[in-house]
Amino acid sequence: MNGELKVSKIKNGTVIDHITAGMAPAVLKILGIERGCPDTVIVAMNVKSQRLGLKDMVKVENRALAAETVKKIAIIAPQATVNIIKEMNVVEKIHVELPRDLIGIIRCPNRNCITNSSERVVPYLTVESRDPLTMRCHYCESLVEGPAAELLL
Ligand code: CTP
Ligand code: ZN
Repeated sequence: MNGELKVSKIKNGTVIDHITAGMAPAVLKILGIERGCPDTVIVAMNVKSQRLGLKDMVKVENRALAAETVKKIAIIAPQATVNIIKEMNVVEKIHVELPRDLIGIIRCPNRNCITNSSERVVPYLTVESRDPLTMRCHYCESLVEGPAAELLL
């Protein structure tokens, strides 16, 4: 047991585990979980983890995540694992991975960038460094540093 918090298991759905401590609210935002959400959601923040010291965790019943949602989670919680639960069992465990090219995942912060114009150009940022995280716009070369990314998801 080693003092780990016991949180209910879910029957079917998705468990996002090993989220960087304190980042669960950002994960909820990425998942579009907000006031009035009808799904069963379990959120744990700052609970003990063997690997990370402290971690957050989000469990959502009856939900599968799109690939682009997993990429967004990788931006704010690079150590996260996404577990697909079917009939109580973990049927798939995905270690999130940040691709080098983020196409249509995160906005460019530059209001004058072509991706923020009426031309409907899909945002395209490239990861320059992973730790600390920095990304650069393919079009206007604006730099995005890790903590600012949350606002651009
Ligand atoms: N889980 C759940 N409901 C289930 C099955 C698993 O909520 N029916 C949760 C577990 O509580 C855990 C996560 O899904 O937080 C992953 O489960 P599992 O792979 O069994 O745990 P670990 O081996 O500890 O995972 P890891 O190696 O990724 O730390
Ligand atoms: Zn740009």
